[in-house]
Amino acid sequence: MIRSLRSLFVLTLLLTGCKKSVLEPVPEWAYPTNPTLPPGQTPPPLSPGPFQVAGSTRSYMRAEITNLFAPPDWRPDDHPAMPEVVAHGRKPEVRACGYCHLPTGNGRPENARLAGLRVPYFVAQMNAFRDGSRKSHVAGRAPTINMGLTAKAIQDAEIMDAAQYFAQLTPRSFVRVVETSTVPKSTIAGWLFKFDKQAGTEPLGQRILEGPEDFEQFELRDPSTPYIAYVPEGSLALGKRLAETWPNGSEPPSCATCHGPGYKGKDDVPSLAGLSPTAIVRQLYDFKTGVRNGGKSADMKEIVKNMTNADMVALAAYMGSLQP
Ligand code: HEC
Ligand code: HEC
Repeated sequence: MIRSLRSLFVLTLLLTGCKKSVLEPVPEWAYPTNPTLPPGQTPPPLSPGPFQVAGSTRSYMRAEITNLFAPPDWRPDDHPAMPEVVAHGRKPEVRACGYCHLPTGNGRPENARLAGLRVPYFVAQMNAFRDGSRKSHVAGRAPTINMGLTAKAIQDAEIMDAAQYFAQLTPRSFVRVVETSTVPKSTIAGWLFKFDKQAGTEPLGQRILEGPEDFEQFELRDPSTPYIAYVPEGSLALGKRLAETWPNGSEPPSCATCHGPGYKGKDDVPSLAGLSPTAIVRQLYDFKTGVRNGGKSADMKEIVKNMTNADMVALAAYMGSLQP
């Protein structure tokens, strides 16, 4: 049914010849969702522990690793002391920011990088989540639900504490962007892909598949977990060209006009360099469907108006490959 609706959609696009101005089908691979998992639960169940990760002297039990109000801090030397809202949140609804975004603020592919975001942008985004104007096109994913619940309950002073903490952190990239036409077979585990190198390969097609290099390290919430993002061949060169000329020579001339040299952010426009490629696609698509509002989203809505899913893939692959 869905498949035939899609073919009809594609056919309509071909017939009307207005592919660029029409919204294309949701890039489902950018919003991987494990349908069997109740919100807030971490898959697959780890043993009770204790666990350790390389390069850290700390040790945690499973119950500590999955604690939304006191997440593990494997590498305390990598960041300054966390304010209460980042380390513990406030029960019952304000989850610890450090749980999802990690104490280093580098985030994970299913959420967002906060390290280095400037305070005015940070506060504007929190206000947009809080008043419901910023949503996600696929709203039923647990990380997004929990972010929304957190923002609804948070107080201004807590937002300011978190914003100032994350603003002073240096953004780092842990994603390796690899151009390819075939990828290892994968399953959706949690909110991203788990590659199984023993299970054979499949064609990538026009998708980006992103997941941790070492799934257990990811599950242990180690901020040094490396990720791999498989992108279609030719994406990096195409993405670079689009970024430098968007939209086709007309005003404004390129992503760097607003996002700054090297796309590292400027004033209250966030950095794009070294972000998770799938997180970038989600944001571009969310601007396009109009579910991401608030802040200065109007600027981006203008930019994505004529952006196809293929353009988003190439731009996200390129931005993800840069050093922050
Ligand atoms: C359960 C996971 C989770 C927790 C806990 C969480 N967030 Fe988030 N956060 C997310 C997700 C997912 C997104 C991306 C939402 C989307 O799809 O747009 C996000 C996005 C954000 C953004 C937007 C970043 C950008 O570049 O646009 C900010 C700011 C933010 N979170 C702040 C916080 C703060 C402050 C806290 C703690 C009070 C917090 N988050 C706790 C999951 C979480
Ligand atoms: C006219 C200025 C402008 C231009 C040009 C522009 N952007 Fe943006 N972009 C913004 C602003 C402003 C925001 C923050 C929006 C908000 O406040 O919600 C943003 C946000 C984004 C985000 C969300 C980042 C995050 O962490 O949530 C992405 C992704 C993005 N832009 C990609 C691009 C790409 C790719 C290009 C070039 C094709 C581009 N932008 C060109 C102004 C611009």
